[in-house]
Amino acid sequence: MAYNLLKGKKGIIFGALNEMSIAWKVAERAHEEGAEFVLTNTPVSLRFGELQKLADKTNSLIITADATNEKDLENLITETIAHFGGKIDFILHSVAMSLNVRKDRLYDNLNYDYLKKTLDISAISFHKVLQIARKADAIREWGSVVALSYVAAQRSLYGYNDMADAKAMLESIARSFGYIYGRDKKIRINTISQSPTLTTAGSGVKGIDGLLDFTNRMSPLGNATADECADYCVTLFSDLTRKVTMQNLFHDGGFSNMGMSRRAMTMYNKSLKDCQENSEE
Ligand SMILES: NC(=O)c1ccc[n+]([C@@H]2O[C@H](COP(=O)([O-])OP(=O)(O)OC[C@H]3O[C@@H](n4cnc5c(N)ncnc54)[C@H](O)[C@@H]3O)[C@@H](O)[C@H]2O)c1
Repeated sequence: MAYNLLKGKKGIIFGALNEMSIAWKVAERAHEEGAEFVLTNTPVSLRFGELQKLADKTNSLIITADATNEKDLENLITETIAHFGGKIDFILHSVAMSLNVRKDRLYDNLNYDYLKKTLDISAISFHKVLQIARKADAIREWGSVVALSYVAAQRSLYGYNDMADAKAMLESIARSFGYIYGRDKKIRINTISQSPTLTTAGSGVKGIDGLLDFTNRMSPLGNATADECADYCVTLFSDLTRKVTMQNLFHDGGFSNMGMSRRAMTMYNKSLKDCQENSEE
């Protein structure tokens, strides 16, 4: 159901690669709610992804940008303002990549060049977007910026690797810039800490199928889907959340506050019994 929550609002959406992407779902929902936006991603992702399809569906302009490249970002902001004939109201940062994860380098055997890339793409890019947008005075008062995070910023989760450090930094950037943007322009900056979700980036996480089942069993409300994440983003871009800023907002069905659930305990005990029976054979 649409509520016209974003009627008249303009924005930039980073990170839609294909129909599974969280940013793709956000773009679809934001469009339904009346927003207009520019879609952006790397030139390479455009060749491999399906962004043009989304642009056609949502009547959006695509401007390519590598989120680590300041010149690209400056161009993105300038072109976006020219396209809309004025400032924007919201930005979604839905960008992440770790070569250490991709190349199976575990946390105690990191390649440090890859680590720098992980931090640059997955965290520092957020700072660059915010700094460049601020210098261009690109975001309207009471605007809203959201980046996507994960609970590995607070808790140790096997297999999440150097992305955990990137997410911790991302959340810190939201707080540090949240103060500056809030103080000067009444603009809010938040991160959403989303459940594990089956997307291209999500599939790279070690043991993602088991993780999805585990977090689903642990969460009283079950895993939050990409569509549900899009709903949450829409509320944060809307005028209904104008005093929410500098927060890391868990959107995970309750997982982050759980220790053990009945459903997870049942599964664990069953596996334990199977293990014991197998060891007796
Ligand atoms: N999928 C999950 O389980 C999960 C859970 C919590 C948070 N998140 C976060 O959600 C965000 C979106 O990921 P997703 O799951 O939708 O996967 P996805 O693979 O669909 O999106 C990741 C996007 O990052 C883009 N990207 C990579 N390098 C870039 C660069 N240099 N410049 C610009 N864009 C670049 C990719 O092209 C892609 O569109 C990420 O920040 C991810 O960490 C995902």
